[in-house]
Amino acid sequence: MRLTIIGTGYVGLVAAVCFAKLGHFVTAIDREHVIQDLRENKLAIWEPDLQEMLETCHKEGRLSFDTNVAKASKDADALMIAVGTPTGVNGQTDLSQVDDVIAQLKHAGGVCPPFIIMKSTVPVGTCDELEANLLHAGLQTEVVFNPEFLRQGSAINDFMNPDRIVFGCRSHLAKAALHQLYKGINAPIQVCDRRSAELIKYASNAFLAMKISFANMIADVCEGYGADNRQVMQGVGTDRRIGPHFLREGIGYGGSCFSKDLQSLLASGKAIARSLPLLEATAQINDERIPQLLEKLISLWGNPRGKRLGVLGLSFKPNTNDMRDAPFLTLLRLCYLYGIEVQTFDPVVQSTSIERVIQMETAYEAAAGADAIIIMTEWPQFAELDWLLMVQLMHQPILLDGRNVLSDEIISRLLMVDNMIYIPVGRAMERAGYDILSKI
Ligand code: UDX
Repeated sequence: MRLTIIGTGYVGLVAAVCFAKLGHFVTAIDREHVIQDLRENKLAIWEPDLQEMLETCHKEGRLSFDTNVAKASKDADALMIAVGTPTGVNGQTDLSQVDDVIAQLKHAGGVCPPFIIMKSTVPVGTCDELEANLLHAGLQTEVVFNPEFLRQGSAINDFMNPDRIVFGCRSHLAKAALHQLYKGINAPIQVCDRRSAELIKYASNAFLAMKISFANMIADVCEGYGADNRQVMQGVGTDRRIGPHFLREGIGYGGSCFSKDLQSLLASGKAIARSLPLLEATAQINDERIPQLLEKLISLWGNPRGKRLGVLGLSFKPNTNDMRDAPFLTLLRLCYLYGIEVQTFDPVVQSTSIERVIQMETAYEAAAGADAIIIMTEWPQFAELDWLLMVQLMHQPILLDGRNVLSDEIISRLLMVDNMIYIPVGRAMERAGYDILSKI
């Protein structure tokens, strides 16, 4: 098929290379400077395998780049919209980038492919409205909703091996076109109406966020009663009705989707006079994670002003340099408020991307002179550091393991260091010299 994809952000670019890899001819559209870089195989995002796949598909002529929507849509079998749909006023979704694409199509002089596939996450009812809007302008097309469930850091793998593919469409022709587009991907396909498809995306993300907040809520109870949330969630998650995933306690969820989609769903509820208290609680629990963790450090320090905090991991999860809605940004804001100095290390986030942070070349430099270290991201290499050396380099040996990265063996060795304090999430804080037997 000839597919034009508008928007080369995370979803658009990953879809472009994956559909090209599946044998389709893909033209990806974006603004001039973005396209210029992509034509030279330069990527703004760091994602495993993406660079290699981009270069291969580009070289083999299955992937090209353009800036002109009308030109690239002229002979396309389908046009896919993968532009950003950020949070706008009052939590509502800002659809201005989608509207822009529609305006360009309207001005293209009657050029519109038979199918417009909406990949961007849009509020329920949007596809119906867009189709009516285009029809009104004399453009005959079917708008299809085809949500994307890929996760950053494993985007290519998730795209090629999804748990399911959802087609929200009206006609058999659209369904057949989507089947052809996804030929080669082995996954169950659910075909449904567009509004249900639009809600599937929101409900899935809301449910996952809810699972994480639930795990974090129980983690707080574990801390209060000396239980271990990892054990609790293992016991809970082995029930097949619940499932083991997304029950990892920690610093809370970040990233461009969960928070944005929760807000959008809450706004959709409000628009029909429905409150959605489960979602409100999910967001509230998440918002409290970082302030709560920082409070633990402050209670140990006494006065936080002038203290130096070493931070390991800046992005919202490993294997990405994406800082959108990263919990680190909340931490940073609070640190400035309390007068805490911040020195950081991240394996992939570029030093130029964040202001007012002393960014180090190694984890050891981020530990040097610190009054505490906080692990924000579960990069596997953080578990492999020479932790005894890390602690020796610090001014005060306090480690807040926000993702429970350290093994029991490392922790027990660390607790032999004088004055060492290890603060995990979802179980009791451990201090050097404190007799574990006295807890029983
Ligand atoms: C998410 C959805 O998983 C994906 O389906 C959707 O398309 C986009 O949003 P993503 O944001 O890339 O994907 O990452 P994900 O792996 O879902 O993690 C989101 C956040 O939740 C991260 O900050 C992660 O650290 C956190 N998380 C995840 C937890 O705190 N605990 C968990 O058990 C799982």
